Amino acid sequence: MSDPTNPHIETRTTPQWGLYQRENFWKPNEGQTPPFNTDPRKLEARAKERLSEGGWFYASSNAGMSNTHLANRQAFYRHRIIPNQLIDTNNRDTTTTIFDHKVSAPIGFAPIGINKIYHPSGESAAAKVAGELKLPYCLSTAGSTPIETVGKANGPGSPRFYQLYMPHDDELTLSLLTRAWDSGFDALILTTDTWQLGWRHDDVASSNYAFYRGFGADLGLSDPVFRKRCEEDGINPDADVVRASSKWIDSVWHGRAWSWEKIPWLMEQWRRISGGRPFVIKGIQSVKDAKKCVELGVDGIVVSNHAGRQVDGAVASLDALEKIAEAVGDEIYVMFDSGVRGASDIVKALALGAKFVFVGRLWIWGLSIMGEDGVRHVMKSLLADLDILMGVAGFNGVEDFDKSILESGPKSYSLLSEKTL
Ligand SMILES: Cc1cc2nc3c(=O)[nH]c(=O)nc-3n(C[C@H](O)[C@H](O)[C@H](O)COP(=O)(O)O)c2cc1C
Repeated sequence: MSDPTNPHIETRTTPQWGLYQRENFWKPNEGQTPPFNTDPRKLEARAKERLSEGGWFYASSNAGMSNTHLANRQAFYRHRIIPNQLIDTNNRDTTTTIFDHKVSAPIGFAPIGINKIYHPSGESAAAKVAGELKLPYCLSTAGSTPIETVGKANGPGSPRFYQLYMPHDDELTLSLLTRAWDSGFDALILTTDTWQLGWRHDDVASSNYAFYRGFGADLGLSDPVFRKRCEEDGINPDADVVRASSKWIDSVWHGRAWSWEKIPWLMEQWRRISGGRPFVIKGIQSVKDAKKCVELGVDGIVVSNHAGRQVDGAVASLDALEKIAEAVGDEIYVMFDSGVRGASDIVKALALGAKFVFVGRLWIWGLSIMGEDGVRHVMKSLLADLDILMGVAGFNGVEDFDKSILESGPKSYSLLSEKTL
């Protein structure tokens, strides 16, 4: 199985990620694939066992009835990959380039808030693994570890991006951008679908909002401008953490929508601070909005519906991707997320026009189950899954993924009617 003396291992330009399968097959086995099963359904179930009720609800909640999440999964189910036979894939290459960074694969860590509710090692663990595997890492403004600490954990030269929830306080925004740039985060991703959290029943019904309990506001508590704001309001951020973290999250998820008029200002500020590094908008789902981004000179978009957590009953992100890539794929760097659960989903998104794909819940489940080792296991498994898929289905590189490798499957969705997957 996966001969480790295969001479092509020496000539390949990327690691033989698929050997991770061999490594697992050779480990002592006590009835389970060690260290844990990465079938997303089992992964999720195991994470649920490990997490507190609040942690589980926050990670698993979707908007409303979860119909957008279901639509995301159904869209993947509808597209089918057509494998090729007897293609020489021995020197296949999984790499791609994103914003001038050569990375191991077209796979990135989506920005996810408050990682410390999943594991005490939090953002640092995920950032460390991302750096090790040479996959881009995105830090969320709602993260539970200061920007500077995460930058260090990710390591020198590792590609990392900063995801902004934009406060209605320009001085605070500039402080966050400057800290991010100084800590090596070299693309800015503005999320535009979350001025406020969507209506997620479990979280609302269980008053599940860590920030209002004094937890998870570390980006704010470590920010000089935010600390000044606390003092102006008579809050000592070190002594009265509950009030300070409530104030922080209310300035980030403020419920006060920004509009297109603000984008040139933000772009200009980020380019000034970073010397012209990329500016990205995350949350785009319509051709009209994608065109607006092109018109304004935005460098990239993430076609995302936030894993179905914001608008229930919305279009599947993969369906949105297909139309958007067709309309503006040659004019702007198109990235994708929402609903990816394995390498075949990544291949489908790339075939439909994405240049790069982010994953969220997969690595969060890994973090919840086993901290840093859990994230590493999930992401190495995903790389192995991609490498093996390319090897057995006749693909040599990301350039092989286009619409010709896909066919539409059955219209019936009956196999995918559960809440999850
Ligand atoms: C628990 C959780 C927290 C998230 N936090 C953020 C966040 O802080 N900022 C953000 O832009 N997106 C956030 N997202 C959305 C992800 O960045 C990404 O769009 C989504 O998770 C991708 O879908 P997937 O989880 O199915 O891979 C979050 C998603 C989840 C599941």
